[in-house]
Amino acid sequence: MLYLKKVCCLALILLSDFNLIKMKKYLILLFTVIPLMYLYSQNDREKENRKINEKCFTCHGQSTYQFYNPEAARDVKYRMNPYRIIYSDRYYMSVHKSFKCTDCHSEDYDSFPHPSTLRFEIHYQCIDCHGGDETYAKFNFEKIEEEFLSSIHSTNHSDEFSCWMCHSPHYYSLSARKESNTKNIVAYSNSICLNCHSNIDNYQLISNERNSDLISKHDWLPNQQAHFNSVRCIDCHAEMNEDVLVAHKIKSKNDAVKNCIECHSQNSKLLESLYRYDIKERTSKYGFYNARILNETFIIGANRNYLLNILSVVMASGILLLILFHLFFRIIKKTK
Ligand code: HEC
Ligand code: HEC
Ligand code: HEC
Ligand code: HEC
Ligand code: HEC
Ligand code: HEC
Ligand code: HEC
Repeated sequence: MLYLKKVCCLALILLSDFNLIKMKKYLILLFTVIPLMYLYSQNDREKENRKINEKCFTCHGQSTYQFYNPEAARDVKYRMNPYRIIYSDRYYMSVHKSFKCTDCHSEDYDSFPHPSTLRFEIHYQCIDCHGGDETYAKFNFEKIEEEFLSSIHSTNHSDEFSCWMCHSPHYYSLSARKESNTKNIVAYSNSICLNCHSNIDNYQLISNERNSDLISKHDWLPNQQAHFNSVRCIDCHAEMNEDVLVAHKIKSKNDAVKNCIECHSQNSKLLESLYRYDIKERTSKYGFYNARILNETFIIGANRNYLLNILSVVMASGILLLILFHLFFRIIKKTK
């Protein structure tokens, strides 16, 4: 940013000092047309890819598909397996919306029936594309990978459990980093876990066991629904890390947070995780630390009720006044 300002200043000085019409034209070209060309080419690529994807979406975008059957010598219609349906509106909101399907899948999918060898297709992993890339440094992919590899999911099921299990290849979008409403962040984050822990079909992709009933497993927690709407599963189940915005090291259930004080206290754990970004913003805005929790969620111990505070001040000053009154009359009595 500073660099950009310097360049602009220099350009302005040059322009005002020499007032070279030709130079001005050249600079205008440099500062407007080239960025526009860049934007255009990006949009162009996205548009082009959308067109290419349409072919895949005519079958994978809805519940039925149609093709010409040469044996029957006519068009036939079948139902698409729901697990193979991809909703285009959600696809085009995801972080990889600018991709064409065949950026991740084999070009051979272009023909139908798809060649049977495609069943053995190996998928890219996040780190194949994002690892060591400066553009994504802020996400800390390497650190996340490290945390994931030491999580209970990965250590118990290393090969079956990949990043794609939680990050849908076709719909994944950012939330904690972009969203300002904490409830929405919580809902999105928890839906990722529940999509498997409350869905036996997905759970049994990984485990031969049945998934346990989460409601009864958490019945020690009062107001369970209120908690699940306000805290993320990872706030109790994952290890915090300064460098990673979203913790990825899920620990065994024996190491989960069960102690109410960890959240319901002045230096709540939540201030370092879920409300971390919020706090930075609010600290500069309102000038005090745990504003979010104090204002919006009444957390035992972290906060005193505002009305009660006023009431106690009123009561305390009332008593003080009474004592002063009493003292005043005693002194007057004595001096008489
Ligand atoms: C004429 C309809 C049709 C078109 C067009 C089509 N597909 Fe498919 N696709 C299917 C059907 C039906 C299946 C499931 C049967 C099979 O695997 O062949 C499938 C399976 C797949 C699978 C494997 C799913 C799995 O569970 O392993 C992938 C990946 C895939 N398609 C990608 C694509 C891509 C990418 C395109 C566009 C380049 C595309 N398909 C175009 C009908 C179609
Ligand atoms: C960012 C990479 C990426 C892009 C882009 C992508 N896919 Fe996929 N796709 C994957 C991965 C990875 C899997 C396997 C998911 C898994 O292992 O759980 C997959 C699985 C599938 C499946 C099998 C069903 C499922 O959801 O597991 C189908 C069908 C499919 N893709 C079709 C498409 C079509 C059609 C497009 C374009 C509209 C597309 N994919 C774009 C990475 C991608
Ligand atoms: C085939 C390569 C490839 C794979 C695999 C891949 N990505 Fe990406 N990803 C990209 C590219 C390229 C972009 C930039 C897209 C753009 O700018 O339109 C991107 C964008 C993103 C962004 C948005 C960055 C931003 O600044 O908004 C996130 C987050 C992301 N990917 C996460 C993931 C995760 C998590 C996985 C694995 C579950 C993954 N990606 C797998 C290539 C890939
Ligand atoms: C057990 C589920 C799970 C697994 C496995 C998982 N993630 Fe995540 N990941 C999440 C959740 C939940 C979020 C929070 C989404 C949000 O709020 O943006 C997240 C967020 C992210 C983000 C965005 C963080 C940010 O700074 O904005 C990245 C990048 C990411 N994951 C990468 C990965 C990579 C790479 C892997 C595999 C090595 C992986 N994840 C495996 C659950 C998982
Ligand atoms: C694709 C399915 C899937 C997803 C998504 C998933 N899990 Fe799991 N999880 C499992 C399976 C399977 C196990 C059992 C592992 C084993 O065999 O020990 C497990 C185990 C656990 C355990 C350990 C329980 C114990 O017995 O110690 C916790 C805690 C947990 N998951 C929390 C989460 C959280 C939090 C998320 C979301 C960030 C999440 N899981 C996402 C499938 C999933
Ligand atoms: C307030 C903290 C807290 C929250 C929030 C929370 N958990 Fe737990 N969870 C625990 C504790 C503590 C245990 C261990 C309970 C025990 O062993 O009695 C546990 C147990 C579990 C288990 C193991 C169940 C078994 O088979 O014994 C799973 C799986 C799990 N939680 C997943 C989740 C998911 C998914 C979410 C989000 C929807 C979630 N938890 C939210 C604290 C929490
Ligand atoms: C991971 C952090 C966390 C832990 C651990 C936790 N809480 Fe909470 N609790 C919260 C948050 C955040 C809220 C605010 C919920 C809301 O939006 O009303 C809350 C709300 C409550 C409420 C008020 C519910 C309502 O409907 O307003 C009670 C009572 C409560 N917690 C008791 C407990 C008890 C008892 C424990 C220990 C067994 C516990 N909590 C553990 C974070 C936590």
